[in-house]
Amino acid sequence: MRIAVGQMDLLVGNVDENLIRIRDILEKAEKADVDVLVLPELCNSGYAFKNISEAISSAEPIPEGPVSRGLLTWSGGGRLVVAGICERTPEGLYNSAMAVANGEHIATYHKIHLFLNEKEWFLPGQEVPPVIDYKGYQFGLMVCFDWAFPEVTRVLTLNGAQVILHPANLVLPYCQDAMITRSIENRVFTATANRVGTERGLAFSGASQITDVKGNRIAKMNTKETGLVWADIEPSLADDKSITERNDVLADRRPSLYRRLTQDD
Ligand code: ACM
Repeated sequence: MRIAVGQMDLLVGNVDENLIRIRDILEKAEKADVDVLVLPELCNSGYAFKNISEAISSAEPIPEGPVSRGLLTWSGGGRLVVAGICERTPEGLYNSAMAVANGEHIATYHKIHLFLNEKEWFLPGQEVPPVIDYKGYQFGLMVCFDWAFPEVTRVLTLNGAQVILHPANLVLPYCQDAMITRSIENRVFTATANRVGTERGLAFSGASQITDVKGNRIAKMNTKETGLVWADIEPSLADDKSITERNDVLADRRPSLYRRLTQDD
């Protein structure tokens, strides 16, 4: 299975221009014959809104909005696409990861850990991040700052994810390395699609990557380029959770000793 991450620069508040840039990535992904494509967080809208009006006017309903519809149509060629979307709903805006496959809307995840000014524009998600089935393999969804909460990748793994798809607009310098650890401790593949460029003083760190179940970077981009990288993976390798001949990263857990983790305060 060929999995790709698209690294992009975007223009905040300019959906028409962002759609042109997304189409360019789709063309490259089509040429590379990818099965699974991940695009950055908020790829329809950009990130650093100047006010709530700009956030609202850049947002779209899923899957009816212009970017969602374009991705839905493109996925009809037998592909899975997971993209970060600034989503407008009747209750308010969400920072969402939309999954579309084979021309159908499969799932939307509302980001649960909001970063910096996201707390001004977006409602926090209230649902467990989803695991979706595509071609008999299991894909978990998370968005950007969820990386800082290892509970997210762990719960996705416990719910069966073999590959974690991760739209991002990374600002802090830690995530790409942290995702190596997330791969190792859960024995899963991860695919992080990040932004480059600067918006209103906020610089995005690029270095999009794909990791294997042992935390090796099997595809990576630099901190400036735009475009696509991909890797051919066998997701079922993630079903083997052994880390030594006598240790298994799931079976060896001691959840009764970690109950503190599930208390709200
Ligand atoms: C982030 O969550 N966009 C850093």
